[in-house]
Amino acid sequence: MTDGDDTSAPAIQASGLRYAYPDGTPAVDGVDVSVARGERVALLGPNGAGKSTLLQLLGGLIEPDEGTVRYFGETADADAVRDRLSVLTQNPADYLFNPTVREDLAYGPAQQDLPDGEADARVERVADRLDLDELLSKPPFRLSGGQQRRAALASALTVEPDALLLDEPVSDVDAANRETVLALLDELTDAGVTLVVSTPDTELVPRVADRVVLLDGDGRVAATGPTREVLTDTALLTDCDLRPPQVVRLFDGLTDDPPLTVEAARDRLGDDT
Ligand SMILES: Nc1ncnc2c1ncn2[C@@H]1O[C@H](COP(=O)(O)OP(=O)(O)O)[C@@H](O)[C@H]1O
Ligand SMILES: [Mg+2]
Repeated sequence: MTDGDDTSAPAIQASGLRYAYPDGTPAVDGVDVSVARGERVALLGPNGAGKSTLLQLLGGLIEPDEGTVRYFGETADADAVRDRLSVLTQNPADYLFNPTVREDLAYGPAQQDLPDGEADARVERVADRLDLDELLSKPPFRLSGGQQRRAALASALTVEPDALLLDEPVSDVDAANRETVLALLDELTDAGVTLVVSTPDTELVPRVADRVVLLDGDGRVAATGPTREVLTDTALLTDCDLRPPQVVRLFDGLTDDPPLTVEAARDRLGDDT
């Protein structure tokens, strides 16, 4: 197959990425990342590790100084796959620029040449799923930080992308809404959507990713592997100024195969009693 959609090709394939900011700060320094279709990958690393920069490079929002990114085995032009790839950077306000939240959610679908009524239906559906119904008529700048983050996510979802790149998607979202967001991400990945999430939070990783790309403090990949392998490697995480999730630390020395989440720990304890 020379062109068209090669379904065995990775959703995103990046090699040799380097990026330094204009002031000379090297943020990403020789990174290879390949994300298969339907895969759930976390970009994990401490503050300043280069996660946000890498996510923007993968999403084609900034151009690397060196290296390449290829999408769906088809093209290196992110703009050519804009309606299949939604990227959410760290600042939700970047996605909220219309007079109302409803118009922000409708903005993406309006570029998509959809049948009559489909854009409105998507807005209603996504707003309902993310509990934003009450906020649709509000000006986005009136929303709280966590509400803005959910509204920005909603605006990324109304285009119904094949791949979703999210920078710290629940960092300032309260516990109940966090569960709502994570449940929706589960549904999307069950439906085959590719997911890349950047976070410094080892507690979040098992909820959103099957594989981890661990960044060290110097813009390089320290390790990449299955979530369990990376999150139970205390020495590796410590080298990157991170710690294993609390339940992993709680079960340390008690089992070779610790649960990664509180829910998994409860299941296990229930089984033993
Ligand atoms: N606009 C910028 N100008 C200069 N340096 C920047 C800029 N944005 C980020 N950096 C620097 O680049 C490095 C990587 O930042 P970033 O990608 O935001 O890391 P992370 O998301 O992992 O916290 C850090 O040293 C940060 O201070
Ligand atoms: Mg960041």
